[in-house]
Amino acid sequence: MATPDYSKFSNSDLIKEITKLRKRKKYGIVWDEENTKEKFEKNVEGKLPVLKEVKNKEITTSKNSFHFLIEGDNYHALSVLNYTHNNSIDMAYLDPPYNRGNEGFRYNDKIVDEEDPYRHSKWLSYMSKRLRLVKALLKRTGLIFISIDDNEFAQLKLLCDEIFGENNFLASVTWRQLHTVKNNATYFSKSTEYVLIYAKNLKSIGKLRQPADKSEAYPYDDNDGKGQYKLDPLSARNKNIEYEFYFNKWKIKWKAPKGSYPRYAEDTLRQMYEAGEIVYKKGWKEPKAKRYLARVQEGVPPSTFWDGTEVGFNANATGELAEILTRDAFLSPKPVGLIKRCLEIAVGKNKTATILDYFAGSGTTGHAVLELNKEDNGNRRFILCTNNENNICTDVCYPRIQRVIQGYTNPTRKKVKGLGGNLKYFRTDFVDSEPTDKNKKKLVEQSTEMLCLKENCFDEVKFGKHFKIFNNHNGAHLGIIYDDDGIENFKNELKKLKKKINVYVFSLDESAREEEFEDVIDLVNLKPIPEVILNVYRRIFR
Ligand SMILES: C[S@@+](CC[C@H](N)C(=O)[O-])C[C@H]1O[C@@H](n2cnc3c(N)ncnc32)[C@H](O)[C@@H]1O
Repeated sequence: MATPDYSKFSNSDLIKEITKLRKRKKYGIVWDEENTKEKFEKNVEGKLPVLKEVKNKEITTSKNSFHFLIEGDNYHALSVLNYTHNNSIDMAYLDPPYNRGNEGFRYNDKIVDEEDPYRHSKWLSYMSKRLRLVKALLKRTGLIFISIDDNEFAQLKLLCDEIFGENNFLASVTWRQLHTVKNNATYFSKSTEYVLIYAKNLKSIGKLRQPADKSEAYPYDDNDGKGQYKLDPLSARNKNIEYEFYFNKWKIKWKAPKGSYPRYAEDTLRQMYEAGEIVYKKGWKEPKAKRYLARVQEGVPPSTFWDGTEVGFNANATGELAEILTRDAFLSPKPVGLIKRCLEIAVGKNKTATILDYFAGSGTTGHAVLELNKEDNGNRRFILCTNNENNICTDVCYPRIQRVIQGYTNPTRKKVKGLGGNLKYFRTDFVDSEPTDKNKKKLVEQSTEMLCLKENCFDEVKFGKHFKIFNNHNGAHLGIIYDDDGIENFKNELKKLKKKINVYVFSLDESAREEEFEDVIDLVNLKPIPEVILNVYRRIFR
């Protein structure tokens, strides 16, 4: 585009031009959004999403809260969650299609192949829309972990910098996912991929820690009040330095073995010695340092390199799935250990955290949450969403979670005990979006599950003509009034209940009908539906 002739601009036009230029993005990622508009199937165009529960898939083993599995496109599920779970997710883990051409990233119902000139634009349109939606779901203290490989790493990093802010970037972890070298590789044999990690607001999170060794690794205890310790050599191998160190004052002369170097600076060593934390016994090749469990109990800062030997390789993930379902049930699962490492860092200490994975695939994130809950008696909850491509939701994700919760027999006929937990299964559904009175009424009728999900109240304790009351195991209640005719009967029930509860009242406008509730106003926290839902959808579906 030719540069405009600014000498001919009036003062006010110049000011406008400067304002425009100042606002313009200076740096970042650009893609062709116009030509890569996402089209949803014809039958969901012009519709608004709701959730429908599939009751016969409910799993209950305890009185605790429910985990949720949502079958459907994650764009629609995230839209619903923007109403039900705004600012309530502690950690999101995503494992999106890597857009490698060969692994079936579908866009507008076509596989995007390597020859497609818009392949990066399509992937970015798809990711950016969903990342913007998940950002609103994260708490201020929330973290997001995204698995990715070289194919879209650079694009994703710039996109996340834009959406979450460069200042909220925490790390790009390298995960060694393959333990062998592929001899048939033409250039490099790729054995690593990445996990990009962002905070919703870096200033709101504290130190990050991952658990150090387990206490069994600290076998000694001198009963001196300092607790369990282990003994570590003072030298570290593999450095070609010959080092000589004298504990001359204490008459221990130690010459580091050839090719070793000391782990500690001389001052540190002296302090450790004076504290009685260096020991030497006759016959040892070198003195040793006492390393106390108590000092690492709060954990260690997570490294940005995660080896498959610690968190699992790809092959381990396939094995884990084969143990529960079959080896070929799903071809690209992640190992449970990888997600557990993310969980330990983000929500290790928060036993009631909510974890979201909207590319759930075979359900590894759910499995990892169930294991962590079992280990520390936690009550963390997961929300998984996956489409049902090749029946991944109905035939892989759901049965895997079901078996992990309830127990199963593995391929060697060994019985594996269930980890326990409760699950509700939802499918996305749709109502017409045109804001007619009839459609508003329909949306209210169809919004019951969404409201139950939002309030975490699923047990129907009262229902009458045009109203319902739900509660949960913590004693919380939720009221829904579907029509004016239900108000009086609902109020009578409320008077018996004698406690203040959230009440969603059908209203064609933004008023919550306060005048109708004057006699019970201390018992109700009124919200007009569908307006509170439509306000969220207006922002998303513009
Ligand atoms: C790479 S896999 C995730 C694998 C998962 N981490 C595991 O360990 O099994 C991505 C999954 O996201 C699902 N998916 C892709 N696009 C989706 C969309 N728009 N909405 C919901 N799910 C989607 C695919 O069906 C696939 O199962």
